[in-house]
Amino acid sequence: MSRGLSRRHMEVPTLDDLAVDGATVGVRVDVNSPLADGRLADDARLRAHVDTLQELADRGGRVAVLAHQGRPGGDQFEPLASHADRLAELLDAPVDYVDATFSSAAREAVGTLDRGAVLVLENTRFYSEEYMEFEPAVAAETHLVEGLAPELDAYVSDAFAAAHRSQPSIVGFPHRLSAHAGRVMERELDVLGSVEDTPRPRVYVLGGAKVPDSLDVAESVLQRDLADAVLPCGVVGNVFLIADGVDLGDATAEFIYEEGYWDEIDRARGLLDAYDERLHLPRDVAVERDSERTELSLVLPFEEGEAAIDVGAGTVDHFASVLAEAGTVVLNGPAGVVEREGFAVGTRGIYEAAAAANYSIVGGGDTAAALRDLGIEGFDHVSTGGGACLRMLTGESLPGVEVLRP
Ligand code: 3PG
Repeated sequence: MSRGLSRRHMEVPTLDDLAVDGATVGVRVDVNSPLADGRLADDARLRAHVDTLQELADRGGRVAVLAHQGRPGGDQFEPLASHADRLAELLDAPVDYVDATFSSAAREAVGTLDRGAVLVLENTRFYSEEYMEFEPAVAAETHLVEGLAPELDAYVSDAFAAAHRSQPSIVGFPHRLSAHAGRVMERELDVLGSVEDTPRPRVYVLGGAKVPDSLDVAESVLQRDLADAVLPCGVVGNVFLIADGVDLGDATAEFIYEEGYWDEIDRARGLLDAYDERLHLPRDVAVERDSERTELSLVLPFEEGEAAIDVGAGTVDHFASVLAEAGTVVLNGPAGVVEREGFAVGTRGIYEAAAAANYSIVGGGDTAAALRDLGIEGFDHVSTGGGACLRMLTGESLPGVEVLRP
C-alpha cells in the first residue's frame, strides 16, 4: 500500500534522546492479552514490544519491565511469569521474573540487573493502587512509584494501549524520572497523531460492540470534518439502523438494552439528522435461522429470538464501493459475531475491501485479533491499542501521552 503523509512532529522525547548505556530503565509495556490455562493465547502485543526491549538491552540498558494483565476479579487476572517465558523466547535471551513490583525483593532484583539484562516485574494490578486513576503528581506518591523510582535512572513508556489510563505505572514515573516514548508508542503517536493529514476521501468503518466509544469517534470526526464517510456496522450499525426506524427484532433490541446502550439510539438519531449524507448504514443483515446463516433485507420480519449478528452481501457490496474510492480508511471493530460459524462473512468482505485501500489504519484489540483469525493482511498500521486508539481518534489527549511531553 502506498501513501503520502505529512507527519506531524512527535513532540515527546524518544529512545533517541536517552543515554541508555549502563542506565537502569523502567519500561511500561502493555502485554494485556487473552490467556488460556494461565498462559498467553495471543502474543501479538508482547511481540510488538520486542524492538524497544531489544534496543534497550543492545544499548547496554538494565531493563525492568512493568505491565498489567487483566482486571482485578476477572479470569484473565494472572501473574506475568508466562509472559516473561515467552519474552525470553522472542528475545532469544534469558529474561528474569520476580513476583513483586516495588517490595524489597523487586528493588533488589532491579538494583542488581546486569548491563543488557531484562527483568519482568509482577502484574502491576496485583497492587490495588494501580487499578485507580490519579493526577500524575498524586500517582508519583503511590507505593509503586515511590518504591521503585529510586532504583531507576529513566522511564520509558511503550504502553500506548494503556495510555488512556491515568494509573501510577503510566503517569506517576514521569513525574520523578526522565521519561521517553518507546518505539511502539512513537509509531502509534506518529500514525494516529497525523490521521488528519492523510489522503481523502477519508472513510471510517466503525463496527464492534463498543457503541459509546464508536459514537464518540463518529461524532468527533463528522463534526471536525475529518470524515467523508462513516460506515457503521456490527452492534454500532444495529444501533444506527434502529435509530433510523428499522425493526431488527426483539432479540437485537434486547441485547442493546442489556448492554446499557439504549440511550445511544437517540445519539445515533441526532447524528443521522445532522450528517445523513456522510453516514452509510447497512443495507441488510444476517440472522441464524434453522441453524443456518440467513440474510434478510431490512423490510423482512425477524422471527422470535433472531438477532442481527452480521451484515449481508448487499451491505458488503455497498461498503466496498465506498471503500474503493477511499484515500484513507480507518477501521475499528468487526461487522458481526466473527466467532460464530458463518457469521464472519460480512467482516471478511469489508476488511478485504479496506485492506485494498490506498492507506489504511486499524484499531487494535478485538479488531486486530479478528484480522489475525481471518488471515487478512495488507493494512498500513494495526494499532496495539483498543480503547486508547478510539480515544485518540476522537482527538482527545491521553494522560499517558501528556505526561511524556517535556
Ligand atoms: C486494553 O486491553 O485495552 C489495555 O490493556 C487496557 O486495559 P484495561 O481496559 O483493563 O485498562
